[in-house]
Amino acid sequence: MDLLKQKIQSEGKVLSNQVLKVDSFLNHQIDPVLMVEIGKEFARRFQSERITKVLTIESSGIAPGLMAALELQVPVVFARKRKSLTLVNDLLTATVHSFTKNETNEISVSSKFIASDDRVLVIDDFLANGQAALGLAEIVNQAGAEVAGFGIVIEKSFQEGGQSLREKGYKVESLARISSLENGEVAFLEELEVALS
Ligand code: G4P
Repeated sequence: MDLLKQKIQSEGKVLSNQVLKVDSFLNHQIDPVLMVEIGKEFARRFQSERITKVLTIESSGIAPGLMAALELQVPVVFARKRKSLTLVNDLLTATVHSFTKNETNEISVSSKFIASDDRVLVIDDFLANGQAALGLAEIVNQAGAEVAGFGIVIEKSFQEGGQSLREKGYKVESLARISSLENGEVAFLEELEVALS
C-alpha cells in the first residue's frame, strides 16, 4: 500500500535494527485519513472471505480494526490485556509473550462476542514474532469459530511471525512488509520477494 509506505518513509524513525517508531500516525497520534484508507484496503483484500467479525487487540490494533470493520460492515471486538472490572465471566483467554517487551500478558475476550459460526478477520498494527496473532487465533479457536485470515498494517518480515502464520496455512495480508531496518533505513520487501513468500 503506497500511501502507507510513503508515510513510513517520511515519518517513521528507526530506533534499532529491530524496532520502527511510528507514533505520529499509528501508535500514539493516529492519522484518521490514513486509517480510512487502511480499512478500505483490508476490506478489499478480504472481501471474498465472508468475514462476520473483526478481532483485534488493544490498543494500537483498535484504529485499523475499527476501520476494516466499518468497511466490511461487521462488528469489531478487541482483546484486553488487563482484567476489566466488568469483564469477569465466560472469558476466552490466551497467554501472549512479547519478546520485544519481554513481558507476558493474559489476553481476554468475552465469549459473548465470538460465536462458533463466526468467520473472524484478525487485525493488528505490527507483526513481529507473531505471538499476539497466535494468541488471538487461539481465542477464535476456543470459541469454535474460524480464523479467515490476518490483516497486518506493518509486518517486519525479518522476524518470524509472518512465515510461521503462513506455514500454518493462514491467509496473511500485510499492507507494508519491511525486509530490514539496518543502517537506520527502512527497506521494504520487493514485489518479487512478496510473490515468492
Ligand atoms: P508479536 O506479537 O508479533 O510477537 O510482537 P511483539 O511481542 O514483539 O510486540 C509487542 C508489542 O510491540 C506490540 O505492541 C507490537 O505491536 C509492538 N511492536 C513490535 N515491533 C514493533 C516495532 O518495530 N515498532 C513498534 N512501534 N511497535 C512494535 P503492544 O505492546 O501491543 O502495544 P500497543 O498495541 O498497546 O501500542
